[in-house]
Amino acid sequence: MKVLSGAMHYFRTLPEQWPDRLGKLRAMGVDTVETYVPWNLHEPRPGTFVFTGLADMEGFFLAAGAAGLKVIVRPGPYICAEWENGGLPAWLQGPLRCHDPRFLEPVDRFFDEVVPRIAAHQVTRGGNVVMVQVENEYGSYGADPVYLRHLADGLVRRGIEVPLFTSDGATDLMLTGGTLPGVLATANFGSGAERQFGVLARHRPRDEPFCMEFWNGWFDHFGEPHHTRDPQDAARALEEILERGSVNFYMGAGGTSFGFFAGANTDDEGVYQPTVTSYDYDAPISESGELTPKFWAYREVLGRYAELPPVPETVTERLPEQRVELGGRLALLDCLDVLSTGTVRAAATRTFEELGQDYGLAVYRTRIPGPREDALEVSVRGLHDRANVLVDGVVAGVLERDGQCGVEVKTPAEGAELTLVVEAMGRVNYGPLVGERKGILDGVRHERQYLFGWEIDPVPLDSIESLPWDRATTAAGPAFYRGTLQVVRPADGFLALPGWVKGHVWVNGFHLGRYWDKGPQVTLYVPWPLLCEGANEIVVLEMDGAPAHASVELRGEPQL
Ligand code: GLA
Repeated sequence: MKVLSGAMHYFRTLPEQWPDRLGKLRAMGVDTVETYVPWNLHEPRPGTFVFTGLADMEGFFLAAGAAGLKVIVRPGPYICAEWENGGLPAWLQGPLRCHDPRFLEPVDRFFDEVVPRIAAHQVTRGGNVVMVQVENEYGSYGADPVYLRHLADGLVRRGIEVPLFTSDGATDLMLTGGTLPGVLATANFGSGAERQFGVLARHRPRDEPFCMEFWNGWFDHFGEPHHTRDPQDAARALEEILERGSVNFYMGAGGTSFGFFAGANTDDEGVYQPTVTSYDYDAPISESGELTPKFWAYREVLGRYAELPPVPETVTERLPEQRVELGGRLALLDCLDVLSTGTVRAAATRTFEELGQDYGLAVYRTRIPGPREDALEVSVRGLHDRANVLVDGVVAGVLERDGQCGVEVKTPAEGAELTLVVEAMGRVNYGPLVGERKGILDGVRHERQYLFGWEIDPVPLDSIESLPWDRATTAAGPAFYRGTLQVVRPADGFLALPGWVKGHVWVNGFHLGRYWDKGPQVTLYVPWPLLCEGANEIVVLEMDGAPAHASVELRGEPQL
């Protein structure tokens, strides 16, 4: 049996838009949607579970069913997916992705919550879930058959009756580490189906060829070129797959890594590469739901294998293009009383995880003794990932992981106050660095000398509701700005920040994600469900320095 499937991540599209995207996927010619399940979204604190809003997994299964789609579920516990920490909660301690009880215990607690909810929607019980994955590309990480077996048994024990499968790159290394006897093995690749399926068949002569991730597009890192793939080239690769087996488009419909949830990679030299907010992926159905040329090219190919439902009439509504003036500079350092979860005093610097913090910023303060008449470098060892440095309240520079690593500082006789506003970018989601820590991992030095005696304020930025906008503030450094977008009828928009450097945007309190003038992403997608008729609040947190005339623009087209 040939499976025709396309990936869409419920946690990357607002629930109000699921029916639109799912209907379009179905119209492309697939009859199945595949999704991951991100553990860190569903269990933000140990033992506290969320299954509403973007985390309404079961609502997504139902919406898929209503669109005529079956569902393939990949509940991890690790998912990669260019998602913060590959979906693993930041609060996990100890070894990851192996049969160490310190990992298996929290995994089992998560499975206890999530697996029965998946099981209830299986085809065998009148629902639409048809397949469930064990781990994710485990052979790219480790070799621990005890761990994989624990997961597979755990799925079955909690009620999974539909076929299980693993997915891996088609190499000996990965297929020997990532597969389990008796569990269907599938392969992930972007082209060369004949060769790829050939390697898979050498290991699994009896498994039907299934490309579980047909990489028909790709994601982007900040500061690197935007990826696209020629639709005709991708359609030919698709033909080559379908002549031999089954397919799952990765991605079928794009989405957005809202809030702090975009992940990161490291390159061959170990250099950190944070991933952008958009997860458009150059998919056949774009981040904002557009039918791209790929959609039509695939539809033609899929039409040879399945009956094609009609393509729904779609009216693309856009907000009118406009500029929104922002005002009210509110210095972050003047709001720590409301933003900090509580000042921690410690001899040495601490990581976010030691502070019990998952995402966001942390402000580290200490004093440098004086007089030190020579300019000596203040540097951070183990900076994850970026620090705005202030000396006696004056901006002294920006430090970056794998980039600028020190700023020169002189101190007067009475010494100087040193402030570091450390921003965590996404945790690495692929490879050996998954599980990395954030904040300052080692310490801060003036020349060779470690500085001790710190006041640390964790600023998780999980809500900006309490920002004291009427407060008069003077502090330098990162600051919030806000403005009002007047809306006649809610519609999609694309928010550009010309002249801004780096930071975060919220719309009506919803954290859209990160922007950075390094590109390639220029506009942030503003989905219509976030907006209401009348006044809508836009808040920008700029880390480095807002333009003289603080305003943002709503544009009619994405620029990725
Ligand atoms: C792998 C992972 C996916 C995703 C892709 C790249 O195949 O399994 O989660 O990270 O790479 O987009």
